[in-house]
Amino acid sequence: MSSWVLVTGGATRLGREIALAFAKAGWSLICHYRNSEGEARKLCDEALALGVQAHPLYAELESEQSCDELFKRTLELSGENLCSIVNNASLFIADNAHDFQESQALQQLNVNLMAPMRFGKWFYEAVANRQASKASKLPQLPEKHSPSIIHILDQKVFNLNPDYFSYTVSKLALERIVALQAQSFGPHIRVNAVSPGLIYQSGPQNLDNFKIASKANLMGAPIEPAQVAQSALFLAQNPCITGNTIKVDNGQHLVPSARDIMFVADKLSSK
Ligand SMILES: NC(=O)c1ccc[n+]([C@@H]2O[C@H](COP(=O)([O-])OP(=O)(O)OC[C@H]3O[C@@H](n4cnc5c(N)ncnc54)[C@H](OP(=O)(O)O)[C@@H]3O)[C@@H](O)[C@H]2O)c1
Repeated sequence: MSSWVLVTGGATRLGREIALAFAKAGWSLICHYRNSEGEARKLCDEALALGVQAHPLYAELESEQSCDELFKRTLELSGENLCSIVNNASLFIADNAHDFQESQALQQLNVNLMAPMRFGKWFYEAVANRQASKASKLPQLPEKHSPSIIHILDQKVFNLNPDYFSYTVSKLALERIVALQAQSFGPHIRVNAVSPGLIYQSGPQNLDNFKIASKANLMGAPIEPAQVAQSALFLAQNPCITGNTIKVDNGQHLVPSARDIMFVADKLSSK
């Protein structure tokens, strides 16, 4: 019986890399999507071809009810074998402390922070119940993988600048939640995070700007999405790690920038 992973926003970009890394390692997959249904179905077909089970599931993560439906369906499909949740889905909207729109700030807090908080609460309950019920039966079968949650952060939380204000606030809180959930959920669930640097073109960024920005780190090189995904898989499969964050950013968090790298990349090229 294989372990199952729920990857939120798993259909495209980093979520797709993470989902495929788990599937290649033999994990069955729930690929959550909102708009990218076609990509989610294609990814699940690829995972099935690898010999694991895979299901695409829709949810609007701004809504508690939709999160609840996603989680309940995930438990039904994975049975007693949901062993990891990767909170990858996120909203990334440009704003600052002077001009943020209340509704957009709340959207980002809901998707980037509240959804991972909800899944944590429900996953803890499910794992604690199943472990209690297994403990009452003999012989006891050990779980293949120790249950864990992995939050996807952003190097921004270790390298502050005032751009993308609401997004950064949501990720700062998520970074603190790693320790709080690890303390709350042990010994049933481990909680860790991966903190990537700039990996993909986002928002209004053009390709030329991205090419410069993606090398503005200590290694002078773009970050491989597959390496970020492998780090998430490592955390899911190492039963001795909880309360930790792995920074997979080529050292970008040690390169201070007064503004988001997108806004200074053009100046870097003219130096
Ligand atoms: N991109 C980077 O360079 C970078 C850098 C540092 C950290 N990160 C972090 O890495 C993770 C992945 O980054 P990414 O750029 O690959 O993400 P992304 O493409 O911006 O978003 C990932 C997915 O989140 C889902 N999503 C957004 N709003 C949603 C909502 N309201 N309800 C449900 N799903 C929603 C979307 O799924 P659908 O497409 O199905 O709608 C989207 O494809 C994020 O947590 C991000 O903060 C990214």
